[in-house]
Amino acid sequence: MLAGKRILLIVSGGIAAYKSLEIIRRLRERRAQVKAVLTAAAEQFVTPLSVSALSEEKVYSDLFSLTDEAEMGHIQLSRAADLAVVAPASADILAKLRAGLANDLASTLLLATDKPILAAPAMNLRMWEHPATQENLACLKERGLRIVGPNEGNMACGESGFGRMAEPAEILAAIEAHFTEGPLAGHRALVTSGPTHEPIDPVRYIANRSSGKQGHAIAAALRAAGARVTLVSGPTCLADPDGVTAVSVVSAREMLEACQAALPVEIAVFAAAVADWRIAAESGRKLKKTGRPPPPLQLALNPDILASISQQREQRPALIVGFAAETERVVAQAAAKRLRKGCDWILANDVSPAGEVFGGDCNTIHFIADGESEAWPRLDKSAVAERLVARIVKHFCIREIGT
Ligand code: PMT
Repeated sequence: MLAGKRILLIVSGGIAAYKSLEIIRRLRERRAQVKAVLTAAAEQFVTPLSVSALSEEKVYSDLFSLTDEAEMGHIQLSRAADLAVVAPASADILAKLRAGLANDLASTLLLATDKPILAAPAMNLRMWEHPATQENLACLKERGLRIVGPNEGNMACGESGFGRMAEPAEILAAIEAHFTEGPLAGHRALVTSGPTHEPIDPVRYIANRSSGKQGHAIAAALRAAGARVTLVSGPTCLADPDGVTAVSVVSAREMLEACQAALPVEIAVFAAAVADWRIAAESGRKLKKTGRPPPPLQLALNPDILASISQQREQRPALIVGFAAETERVVAQAAAKRLRKGCDWILANDVSPAGEVFGGDCNTIHFIADGESEAWPRLDKSAVAERLVARIVKHFCIREIGT
């Protein structure tokens, strides 16, 4: 499973650094490539020679080493990996990562990498419990940093409690899980899909032509990338994608309630075709043709789910993607809709009948973000979903470390 995987192992200072040798040995046994970086403090605990002997690679430690820069610049070193592992991760390196400091090779690589980061914290109990460390971790986790450990037990300093680095076997298991679970493992996602039905009376309703194919394909693609997905769908004929938590709703108001209940999530994609209006006074009994003129249907505005989740203060998802279904001035209207509704990205599609987007198998998207606008070719809805998810993965991998 790990054969051929490229691991950038950053060893920071702490007595647990000795366990990094065991991590390297186990990774090499599994035929993973390990490029190790030692901080100056780590070199007090393990020697570059032993790390190099076990990894069978050059060991890096100096940001300003001209030889290293000539062979492999620090940016390339940070990118030429599938996963960056920080073990042990000291309180110091976690604080640097949160603050975005880049004053040695290890912190520079963590800031420059576009790959996910797994950290195995190790420190004294009081340092671990300190509000500064806990705040740093909470912020880093929110950015997508994955953590393994620490464990509870006796520590080298003589104290006992949380702060012991996870054992090499546990760190190996977390590395393997990363590769089996996909790049969005550890992230939660909410997707809306399908139409909503707004009842007129117990047998009639207002609806639209959405089949749910686009929304369901996005939920499946997010799941395939490892995210934990809640799919809130209006009535469709589609099966629930494997591995997602499916919540069936009927009306816009039910959809809003289900979306709010699914929070917190880091990713939210609103592909549902939500009815903008409902019947102001739904009849509890079937309306009858009694020879009188047809009953007037008074409409009331439905809640805007996308706008209301985008306006959340406490639990706003880190990335909110809306759709814009337009029939004219598609890009301009979609760009204005993105700003009006407060989402981060919007996927504009022309839903004129000729395009057969509603209910059809294909879609032609215009992707719009802040300062970005990109026309995608006509694609199968699954391919649209995969393209969107690839973009989400890239967004989160960069966001996990940088800002
Ligand atoms: O389901 P399919 O047959 O596969 O078709 C896919 C699709 C055409 C439904 C899909 O690609 C799409 O465009 N979905 C959005 C449809 C829509 O309602 O667009 P809108 O421009 O009216 O709404 C803009 C955004 O606000 C959408 O993200 C929508 O989910 C959201 N919205 C709209 C109204 C409302 N009351 N609440 C909302 O959250």
